[in-house]
Amino acid sequence: MSRRARGGATRLDSYVDRYAARTLGMTASEIRALFSVASRPEVVSLAGGMPNITGLPLDVVGGAISDLVEHDGPAAMQYGSGQGDPGLREQICDVMRLEGIEGHPDDVVVTVGSQQAVDLVTRIFCDPGDVVIAEAPSYVGALGVFRAFQCDVVHVEMDGDGLVPAALAEAIRAVRADGKQIKFIYTIPNYHNPAGVSLASVRREEVLDIAREADVLILEDNPYGLLGFDDGPHRALRADEPDGVIYLGSFSKTFAPGFRVGWALAPHAVREKLVLAQEAATLCPPSFSQLAVRSYLSTHDWQGQVKAFREMYRERRDAMVEALEDMMPRGARWNIPNGGFYVWLTLPDGLDAKTMLPRAVTSRVAYVPGTAFFADGSGAQSMRLSYCYPTPDRIREGVRRLVAVIEEEMELRETFGTMPGARRERLASRGYESPNTDLR
Ligand SMILES: Cc1ncc(COP(=O)(O)O)c(C=O)c1O
Repeated sequence: MSRRARGGATRLDSYVDRYAARTLGMTASEIRALFSVASRPEVVSLAGGMPNITGLPLDVVGGAISDLVEHDGPAAMQYGSGQGDPGLREQICDVMRLEGIEGHPDDVVVTVGSQQAVDLVTRIFCDPGDVVIAEAPSYVGALGVFRAFQCDVVHVEMDGDGLVPAALAEAIRAVRADGKQIKFIYTIPNYHNPAGVSLASVRREEVLDIAREADVLILEDNPYGLLGFDDGPHRALRADEPDGVIYLGSFSKTFAPGFRVGWALAPHAVREKLVLAQEAATLCPPSFSQLAVRSYLSTHDWQGQVKAFREMYRERRDAMVEALEDMMPRGARWNIPNGGFYVWLTLPDGLDAKTMLPRAVTSRVAYVPGTAFFADGSGAQSMRLSYCYPTPDRIREGVRRLVAVIEEEMELRETFGTMPGARRERLASRGYESPNTDLR
């Protein structure tokens, strides 16, 4: 195929005219683009949300896997059911009971991480142009799915108590007044990624009431629910609304993400469609991973392990919050998460986390700019800081480097005003100093 596309422009991708329209929305997330730089050892990465599984007893996991091969090898290496292993689905119901859910194994569909569950749910519900209501900010991986299915994401404000019910009701009203179809409300009620907040219990009832009254499904994404430091586990939305909520869970943060085992618990009819979508996508979720997780859950004190994870993450949360309190300049604001992996930090006025990022990476610290978490490109003044992976000492060092970058940026801003980043950097690197207001 010619490397010259229609209209004569040279294009690097010679297939560009052949892709389906939905691929237009498929772009590398800001986190992906960062990974290659942020994973260099000299960089303190406060960017990635990788669970820290160094505390996992690998001998126990290894023993469970070799037992599996020895005693159940043929089943573990064979195709399985599209819905997932029945024994694992029973165990999943036990896990969900910790959050008040009385689910039936027949209504569980095992997925390749909860990421695939977001994809399958969107696949079966959304046509191009359908509206998904999502918190602002929202999980970047879910936004990627919604974009891939050409959904129209309408954001709803959150505060320290999570999704704001009045804003949700108003968003539903406004979308409907516009004549658009709302397919579901996507929410992460516990230890939110990236906002770090949880939905207050009185708001849980309000959100359920609003969704029930408007007859809109809720997609409850809950990978961090068992990782509360000072509270929790919170009662799941699904616990009080079996028909109106599709619940997503995952073993990625409570065990290990490499097995890629997650699940959806859905009303019976929806479950039926999810299984068909799962069969079309993968035939069946991987048998080996499912049976390995099943074996780990039944032979190991997995809840004790989750408690150990919680304690490790709490220590890291403390290290990050203390470092922020000690070092951050005035004007920066952040929340103190009660669980999960993330602090959401808003920079002093006038600073832009996205344009500051290359400078931060040069100073050997990485974060994710807030714009990654909004479908409409807003959020530039904020950033997500993850404390899950680095040690407490590295976290403190990372915050120290970040603060130096922010202070430098504030000084530059004072000196050169709000001129575009590239010009400002050029002038600054030449030692140009001018408080001149024409430069604004
Ligand atoms: C809110 C949220 N949902 C879903 C996922 C996907 O997790 P997994 O596919 O590993 O289960 C993540 C991963 O970070 C997440 O933070």
